[in-house]
Amino acid sequence: MLVSAKDMVTAARANGYAIGAFNLNNLEWTKSVLKAAQESNAPVIVQVSEGAGKYMCGFKTVADMVRDIIESQNITVPVALHLDHGTYDGCYKCIDAGFTSIMFDGSALPIEENIAKTKELVAKAHEKGMSIEAEVGAIGGEEDGVVGMGECADPEECAKIADLGVDFLAAGIGNIHGVYPANWPGLRFDVLENIKKAVGNMPLVLHGGSGIPDEMVQKAIGLGVSKVNVNTECQIAFAKATREYIEAGKDKQGKGFDPRKLLAPGAQAIVDMVNYKINVFGSKDKA
Ligand code: 13P
Repeated sequence: MLVSAKDMVTAARANGYAIGAFNLNNLEWTKSVLKAAQESNAPVIVQVSEGAGKYMCGFKTVADMVRDIIESQNITVPVALHLDHGTYDGCYKCIDAGFTSIMFDGSALPIEENIAKTKELVAKAHEKGMSIEAEVGAIGGEEDGVVGMGECADPEECAKIADLGVDFLAAGIGNIHGVYPANWPGLRFDVLENIKKAVGNMPLVLHGGSGIPDEMVQKAIGLGVSKVNVNTECQIAFAKATREYIEAGKDKQGKGFDPRKLLAPGAQAIVDMVNYKINVFGSKDKA
């Protein structure tokens, strides 16, 4: 069932667990993430960045694919289809394409402009029954070719954006997208605690969920994080399984070159990773 992410994230916040938000990259990803969520009986968020949306031939293709797979594979757990790091225009495109949730990332804008645009999109999303995430303090690392550093959000700015009625809020706490450098000092729990004090019960979103030690993620969940984004770890698991298949020469045995065979180990690696993450986040059996 495709639903807004509001109820699942709110329930997660109230009960001390987090919803996994997994980025989609193609058909295999979509099948695998939904399969794992069903196996784990967990509510799930599937999300695409604007770059991935373009790669998959547009947001409407993504929305149709997700809806059709939910139906054909008898997926009964709640699924939200979310735009990850949306621009102002991207948000409107996803509203039209039938997404059930959007993120407006105005973190690079001056705070007043971020506020004005977020306010407008909150009204639009809620009118359509969709949930909306906003961001304060850019999340570093690499996202669609743009590289930043692990910033920390200002709690007062977080409160200003939270007060606009967003459903969940992404705030930088030293987290970054992609692979963490070996000398990464870890999440800033002091910053997270101050943000939590400033925003009250507002569910928080942890971006860059790949490669953060499990105990650190769980501590962040205990401090108000209710949605954890994961992309890179599924990509690495997929690449590793595919490489092993090729290196073992399996593509040269029989019809091992058939993409349905060649991509199968990678697809299963994504299923395994998503099931693992759902366990860590505590959302297993919360559907
Ligand atoms: P990772 O690729 O580091 O898991 O980050 C995903 C993310 O935060 C998407 O917004």
